[in-house]
Amino acid sequence: MKLFNEDAIEWLSTLANASVDLLITDPPYESLEKHRKIGTTTRLKVSKASSNKWFDIFPNIRFEELFEEIYRVLKQDSHFYLFCDQETMFYAKPLAEKVGFKFWKPIIWDKINIGMGYHYRARHEYILFFEKGKRKLNDLSIPDVLEFKRIYRGYPTEKPVPLLELLVKQSSVPGELIVDPFFGSGSTLLAAKNLERKYLGSDTATAAHEYFKNRLLK
Ligand SMILES: C[S@@+](CC[C@H](N)C(=O)[O-])C[C@H]1O[C@@H](n2cnc3c(N)ncnc32)[C@H](O)[C@@H]1O
Repeated sequence: MKLFNEDAIEWLSTLANASVDLLITDPPYESLEKHRKIGTTTRLKVSKASSNKWFDIFPNIRFEELFEEIYRVLKQDSHFYLFCDQETMFYAKPLAEKVGFKFWKPIIWDKINIGMGYHYRARHEYILFFEKGKRKLNDLSIPDVLEFKRIYRGYPTEKPVPLLELLVKQSSVPGELIVDPFFGSGSTLLAAKNLERKYLGSDTATAAHEYFKNRLLK
């Protein structure tokens, strides 16, 4: 399936109206940079010597335009999942509602192992669950706290494929098209592939393309 090296919004603007069945994404939101600067996510520190180089940040000011494009490309009766932290959740939720999405709830990704830090130490992330129109989840027995171990020493902020597989299974059927406009390590795309969905993605970092290519080869 096709991969692009373009800015998320510019790339989405090339997709047809109502052409995507499910969109799952994890933009490099502004507050990630704050966590990195204060050193609570040392795994994300910039290191010229490693391939673990920090990526470009997506400024909050661009969220509304991003959500307009996501809403436009999604089919009627579809779902949209947005990975973020608490700071971005409060910022992003009203903007996504403004463009037309119904917000259901934040799903909690419990990473099981505690993270770095000097405060209440992070063990979870949010996955905001939005809907365009009405689509039933495929399995109504799944809780809103999802337990999957965090990834160590992967691509910066890499998400576990089994977590993505759960979301893909819940909100699509085989043969449908899944899109991730900030694909990073490609976990969303791999989950789609494993479950016989079609997928398309974009990422502006060459490192992301190389990382995902290597994963596919493995
Ligand atoms: C938080 S990471 C995604 C991690 C991914 N969910 C995973 O499991 O590996 C965000 C990605 O967005 C990419 N990126 C940054 N700015 C972008 C932009 N304007 N358009 C598309 N991709 C962008 C970065 O290169 C980075 O790979």
